Amino acid sequence: MAKENLLEIRDLHTSFFTDHGVVRAVNGVDLDVPEGRIVGLVGESGCGKSMTARSVMGLIKSPGRIESGSIKLDGRELVGLSDRELRSVCGDDVSMIFQEPMTSLNPVLKVGRQVEEVLLVHHKASTKEEAKRLTVDMFERVGIPEAEKRMSAYPHELSGGLRQRVMIAMAMVCKPRLLIADEPTTALDVTIEAQILRLMKQLCKEHHMGILIITHNLGVVAEICDDVYVMYAGRIVENAPVFELFDHKRHPYTEGLMNAIPKIGGNPEFLSTIPGVVPNLLHVGDGCTFAGRCAHASDRCRAEMPALYEVAEHHTCRCFLAEREGQ
Ligand SMILES: Nc1ncnc2c1ncn2[C@@H]1O[C@H](COP(=O)(O)OP(=O)(O)OP(=O)(O)O)[C@@H](O)[C@H]1O
Ligand SMILES: [Mg+2]
Repeated sequence: MAKENLLEIRDLHTSFFTDHGVVRAVNGVDLDVPEGRIVGLVGESGCGKSMTARSVMGLIKSPGRIESGSIKLDGRELVGLSDRELRSVCGDDVSMIFQEPMTSLNPVLKVGRQVEEVLLVHHKASTKEEAKRLTVDMFERVGIPEAEKRMSAYPHELSGGLRQRVMIAMAMVCKPRLLIADEPTTALDVTIEAQILRLMKQLCKEHHMGILIITHNLGVVAEICDDVYVMYAGRIVENAPVFELFDHKRHPYTEGLMNAIPKIGGNPEFLSTIPGVVPNLLHVGDGCTFAGRCAHASDRCRAEMPALYEVAEHHTCRCFLAEREGQ
């Protein structure tokens, strides 16, 4: 069943113009988040996941900027809008959970008050009492113990894990149509992580939200995602529905990521990791950016960037091996 795309990113290029040259952080990304689906964006550190998300939110700071491409929310183009226009288009509809929770909470306001304000500003509560009730309820749902008491804490009085849960509560309390969650559960212990992932799934289905979840953790992807995009060095290298990706992965990088998932009860010594590191995005050549780390790389891979080949329905892969298999 075809679903409407809430978010549609096409050929997005976001770069940083540094003294050392141009860093191509997001290099021609296409990505869709349909209504009512949870989409995962995975890849190693530095591959451009956060910059993709920040591009959507209009949060790329100098020396970076969106060079070209299109980002549509419900069919409305966001690239090129002023901050004010962007706030009016996205204000009530889009929320983001940031990777660094401390920077997005106001240090001089009690956390409960901050969440209540969000509800009042977005007209999701008409009275202070209602805002308080909804905030306590959301604090409980994200697993903040003694929720009512914690309402009057300042951010610095809370542990990193609790601050993260406050951020998650703040992003979800207004039931945005699109939630972008950048490593939302990384700082949390596994029980709380599971609780929050369940809550996201529930809100997604109940309110028909679209969720873009950024993570380096394929366990999280397997747990809640419907669709997955694998990103490497600024580009999408593979995209498929979650079961298709896990069962029929085609890209050697995806394979490497999957082999690096710690097995429960397994011996971490036997964890296979991908040799080498993500290339410096200042110096991306003409060939496949993964060629330097890939066991299957040929001269062609080193000379030419593969296209995204369609290898099955809704399954694309940027690898010459997939080009052959796809035929
Ligand atoms: N201000 C900046 N100046 C130059 N390059 C930058 C700047 N900010 C980010 N980058 C580069 O953009 C690239 C993508 O960064 P991004 O934060 O999107 O990675 P990520 O995939 O989110 O990584 P992580 O998993 O560590 O959060 C990185 O190579 C980074 O060095
Ligand atoms: Mg990041």
